[in-house]
Amino acid sequence: MQLEWTETGEAFAGQAAARVASLLAETPDAAIALPTGSTPIGLYARLRAMEAAGELPLSHAHFFNLDEYVGVAPANRHSFAAFLRRHLLDEADIPAEHIRLLRGDAPDIEAEAAAHDAAVAARGGLDLAILGLGSNGHIAFNEPGAPWDAGTHVVPLTEATRMANAAYFPDGFQVPSHGLTMGIGMIRAARRVLLMVSGPAKAEALGALLAARPDPDWPVTALCGHPGLTVIADAALRGVR
Ligand code: PGA
Repeated sequence: MQLEWTETGEAFAGQAAARVASLLAETPDAAIALPTGSTPIGLYARLRAMEAAGELPLSHAHFFNLDEYVGVAPANRHSFAAFLRRHLLDEADIPAEHIRLLRGDAPDIEAEAAAHDAAVAARGGLDLAILGLGSNGHIAFNEPGAPWDAGTHVVPLTEATRMANAAYFPDGFQVPSHGLTMGIGMIRAARRVLLMVSGPAKAEALGALLAARPDPDWPVTALCGHPGLTVIADAALRGVR
């Protein structure tokens, strides 16, 4: 595991963007899974700026979302799909056929999960999974106790996660009871994992990872020993060991 501490928001986003750029320099058609949340917003802004400056071609890469709300259509502005389109995918030169976003409103949600897995498999698996971290240790929507060998599947969301996510929607959007998420098995199979950890609320979860004792109550510890893991943490987490 490589662990990088950053002092400013600029450095946090910049170091994450540099990781994406170095992957794309080696593998321009990389398959990349993208997270939603406040943590990656600066990274996405940086990737857009690098692309606009001609420094980072994104048009050969393939993008997948990590997770989505069940019952929420991609066109709904509360969806994770809409978030990724706003912050990155619609703002860069990326062909539509290189983007695969989960359809939270799919009539057959199991078939939708299987189609997501098949689309990733068709690219030879993920070259990079970019992850945020939940304060309860979740990665994507894999909550404490989640299996470590799963592909994309439906999960109930914990009250903690629903409350954390509701805070982003002052319009009173009711966070759904279930999510659709790439499973930990699929995330662990990614050749590289970039875990972005920001803010003091994540200290305990980051501490669980750094303790290097795999524990299903802390899903992030499934990444212990991953040979391609990079963790980028911000200044608020400096004291965590
Ligand atoms: P955040 O969410 O980036 O909004 O903190 C991270 C997560 O819950 O995975």
